[in-house]
Amino acid sequence: MTINITPVVNEFESPDLRLAGWTRSIKRSVLREMLAVVSRPGILSFAGGLPAPELFPAKEYAQAVNVTLSRDKEALQYGPPYPPLKGHIVDLMAQRGVACYEEQVFITTGAQQALNVLTRLFLDRGGAVLIEELVYTGIQQALAGYEAEIITVPTDLELGMETDAVESHLLAGLRPAYVYAIPEAHNPLGVSLSEARASRLVELARKYGFPIVEDDPYGFLTYDKEATPPLRSLDDRWVIYVGSFSKILAPALRLGWMVVPEYLVPKLTVLKEALDLETSAFIQRTVAEYLEAGHLPSHLNQLRDEYRLRRDTMLASMERHFPPVARWTNPSGGMFIWVELPGHVDTTELLTIAVEEEHVAYIPGSAFSVNSGIIGSSLSDRSDNCMRLNFSNSSPEEIERGIVRLGRILHKHC
Ligand SMILES: Cc1ncc(COP(=O)(O)O)c(C=O)c1O
Repeated sequence: MTINITPVVNEFESPDLRLAGWTRSIKRSVLREMLAVVSRPGILSFAGGLPAPELFPAKEYAQAVNVTLSRDKEALQYGPPYPPLKGHIVDLMAQRGVACYEEQVFITTGAQQALNVLTRLFLDRGGAVLIEELVYTGIQQALAGYEAEIITVPTDLELGMETDAVESHLLAGLRPAYVYAIPEAHNPLGVSLSEARASRLVELARKYGFPIVEDDPYGFLTYDKEATPPLRSLDDRWVIYVGSFSKILAPALRLGWMVVPEYLVPKLTVLKEALDLETSAFIQRTVAEYLEAGHLPSHLNQLRDEYRLRRDTMLASMERHFPPVARWTNPSGGMFIWVELPGHVDTTELLTIAVEEEHVAYIPGSAFSVNSGIIGSSLSDRSDNCMRLNFSNSSPEEIERGIVRLGRILHKHC
C-alpha cells in the first residue's frame, strides 16, 4: 500500500455535465483521504485533529436538549440569531480578555463558515491574501476559486508568524484583502505568537489598513499559563475574531462565532444567508441552555487537565524514544506537536512504512503547505521532512505505545 498525498487536479472532470471553470483547479482533499486510510482498526493514529470523544459532556448536553425541547417550540423553527447565546459569547470573550458587546457577535455554523464568509466579504477575484506557508488547510479551501494571489510568510517555531516578512511585503506594495493568523496554539505548528509579534502585527494592520482574521479555536485550551490575550483585545477596528465551540464542546454542533465591528453585521448576514439561511436555532438554543446551566467552566478544567497529561506524555515519550536529530515544538495549548526531521527524510514516503511496519500514523508536513497544497504552486518549502502529531485523540497509554513504534521507524530512517 502506498499512501498518496500528491494533489491531483481535474480528476473530477465530468463526462456529461459542464462544470464552472474554476472547479477545474479543485484538488482532492488529500488530508481527508489520508485520514480515512490511517483510521483503520489496529492503527495507532496521531493523524487526525479530533477532540477526545470520551470527554464530550454528553449527559449535561442531553439535559440542555431536554429542557430546550420541552420549553421552546421555536427551537425547531427557522429563526434569527439567538440573543441569549450572544450574551454567553460576550462573557466567554471577557474570559479571553476581550471586551465586546452582543451587537458585535455574529453566530456562524462553525469557524470554517466564518472563514468562508469573511473571504467572500473581503476578497475580490484576483485579490491578494497573506497567510503563513504552513497553515490549517481549511483556510486554503476557503480561498479556492477566487484566483487569489496567495502571499506566504514563514513561521518561527518559537515566536510564531514572521512579522518582519509581513512588513517586507507591505513595504514592497502589497495591500492584502486580509491577513490570516492563528495566534494561539497554531494548527499545525503548535506555536503561539509572541506578545511582541502580536503587537507588531496589529500595528502593521493599523498603519497599512488591512483586516486581520484571527482564528482562535484553541484559545480556551492552554495548559501551562493563562492564554495570551487575543489580537482582538489590542484592536477592535482591524481585527476580526473567529471562535468555535468545536474543540471546547463538540465539533458536531457546528457552532462558531465572530466578533466583528458592528457595521459589518448587515452585510455578513446577507452573505451567510446565501450559505445556510441561519445557523440551526436548535443548536443555538441548546448550547445557550448548556452554558446557562453553568457547566462549561468545570468541563474546560477537565479538558485542560486531560490534554495537558496527554501532551506531557507525548513530549516525555518523544524525548525517550525519538533520535536526537529530531526536533519538535513544545505547545502551550491546542492539540498538536510539530516534528522536524533531517532534510533527507521524506515524511510522506515514511508514512507508508510507518503504517505498514508499525501500524502508527501521523500527517506529513507537506499536507499543510500552501505552496504544494490545495491552492498552491509547485514551489517547495521546508515541510517535506516534517510531521504533525495529534495528542488529544489518544489515551496516554496509546500515546506511549505509538511513540515507541514511531521512534523505531525514525531511528531506522533518520
Ligand atoms: C485553525 C482552525 N480553524 C478552524 C477550524 C474549524 O473549526 P470548526 O469546527 O468550528 O469549523 C479548525 C478545525 O480543526 C482549525 O484547526
